[in-house]
Amino acid sequence: TSNTRIAPSLLSADFARLGEEVRNVIDAGADWIHFDVMDNHYVPNLTIGPMVCEAIRPHTKALIDVHLMVEPVDDIIPQFAKAGADVITFHPEASRHPDRTLSLIRDHGCKAGLVFNPATPLQWMDYVMDKLDIVLLMSVNPGFGGQSFIPNTLLKLKQAREKIDDWQRDGGQAILLEVDGGVKVNNIAEIRAAGADTFVAGSAIFGQPDYRKVIDDMRREIAR
Ligand code: DX5
Ligand code: ZN
Repeated sequence: TSNTRIAPSLLSADFARLGEEVRNVIDAGADWIHFDVMDNHYVPNLTIGPMVCEAIRPHTKALIDVHLMVEPVDDIIPQFAKAGADVITFHPEASRHPDRTLSLIRDHGCKAGLVFNPATPLQWMDYVMDKLDIVLLMSVNPGFGGQSFIPNTLLKLKQAREKIDDWQRDGGQAILLEVDGGVKVNNIAEIRAAGADTFVAGSAIFGQPDYRKVIDDMRREIAR
């Protein structure tokens, strides 16, 4: 299914061997690398920044999907663009001017998107549809890997799918719909059915010894 993508989250990879993990998971059939940036301010955890993005960049041609869980947002965007990020998403309530931030990301040559926490309303996207390349719905509260999928996300995915389909039907540009948090082999089919086309999975992939088996199983479930 070429219109869907699997994006393993490096958050659950072995941080002592990141380059190798990136190569292995892409060799195992993954499409994108999901790169979680946490600042111990917007979320209660601290991860990796532009220097690590730059360090993994030579290890793959796959798109690097940078998920910014930081506040403020704007200052770090040029740094990630320079470090080789392809997609940059941020949480709109963490930016003082989300419309400006979306433009800033595109001005730096990257695909731009908004991330919605479980309780964040989808209305944030209504007046910036023309500036979106991707919409990311969190299916857990951001900050940690290995949490359980929040079932209400399925309804929200359907609502986001409808907004995007309406937009595209009226001639708007393509917008991807990504989901992040608690995605597993045993729930990815219903997540796909609710309208997602891009699937982040951290612990489900990096928590298993055979990445290819998990990714194959996920693809089979998506195609059902
Ligand atoms: C959570 C991160 C996710 C996380 C997902 O704040 O944005 O990308 O790594 O991990 P799993 O798939 O284990 O829920
Ligand atoms: Zn993420």
